[in-house]
Amino acid sequence: MAYRNLEIDNRGAVRTIIVNRPDKLNALNRETLNELTIAFAQAAQDDSVRAVVLTGAGEKAFVAGADIAEMNGYTPIQAQGFSRTGQRLMSSIERLGKPVIARIQGFALGGGMELAMACHLRVASEKAKFGQPEINLGLIPGFGGTQRLLRLAGRGATLELCLTGAVIGAQRAHELGIVTRVVAADALDDTVAALADQLAAAAPLAAAGILDAVLQGGETAIDQGLEFETQGFALAFSTEDMREGTTAFLQKRKAEFKGR
Ligand code: COA
Repeated sequence: MAYRNLEIDNRGAVRTIIVNRPDKLNALNRETLNELTIAFAQAAQDDSVRAVVLTGAGEKAFVAGADIAEMNGYTPIQAQGFSRTGQRLMSSIERLGKPVIARIQGFALGGGMELAMACHLRVASEKAKFGQPEINLGLIPGFGGTQRLLRLAGRGATLELCLTGAVIGAQRAHELGIVTRVVAADALDDTVAALADQLAAAAPLAAAGILDAVLQGGETAIDQGLEFETQGFALAFSTEDMREGTTAFLQKRKAEFKGR
C-alpha cells in the first residue's frame, strides 16, 4: 500500500517503517497516526517479518511530537479521539508480538518520545534529544507518556521531565533507563541493523512469549506474572522451534527456527 507519510523498507526479515514528514520534523498528525496503525498491523500479520525498526526521515528528528498545528484547532472531543488513536497505536506496537526497535537519530519529543517508548528497544545516536515538553504548550502527554515513562524511569524522573518539559540528551536518557543503547551517530545504522538481524533470526514464538511475559505479566502482581511466565514456558514446549533449538544445541550445530 502507498502511504503519504511513511516509507517502508524490507531487508530480509526486517521491516523498517520510516515516518516521512521531515519538513515538519516527522510530527504526528492524524493521518500519520492512521498510516502507522495500518503499517504495524501489516507487520504483525506478515509472517515473513520477524523484527521491525521504526525511525524518522532525515537527520534532525525521530519524531518531534504530535502535530501542534493540527492540535491547535481541536475541540476537547477531537482531542479525546486523537489521544485514543495515539494510545491505541502505541499499545498495538507494544503488543505486536514481534520485537520493535526505535532508531532515534535526533529529536524524540512529546508524541515522538511516547512512540519510542512504545517500542521494545530504543537505540539512540549520542546526538538524540528526548523530552515531554507538552507542559510548555499548556498540555499533558496524551499518547501514554505519563504511564510508559513512569514504568521505564520511575516516578521521580517522570515527574521531573513532564513538569519541567526539559529536553535531555541521549546519555542522560540512557542513565534514566529510557534508552537501551547509545552509540556514535555514525554507528547508529550498523548497530540497529545488527541488532535487528539478531532479533529476526531468533525463535519468533519464544520472542513473542518473552514480550508477553514481560509486557503483560509485568503489569500484574508478581504471583500472577510468574504464573503467566510458567504458562508461556510450557507453551514453548509445543513448538517445533523448541525441539529444534534444544536438539541443535545437543548436536553442536546452529539452530534454524521456523516460527512453528
Ligand atoms: N508539530 C508540528 N510542526 C512541528 C512540530 C510539531 N510537534 N515540531 C516541529 N514542527 C515544524 C515547525 O513548525 C517547522 O515548520 P515550518 O518550517 O513550517 O515553520 C518545522 O517543523 C521545523 O521546525 P523548527 O521549529 O523550525 O526547527 P528548530 O530546529 O528551530 O527547532 C524543535 C526544533 C524540535 C526544538 C522545535 O521544532 C520544537 O520545539 N518542536 C515542538 C516540540 C514539541 O513541543 N513537541 C511536543 C508536541 S505535543
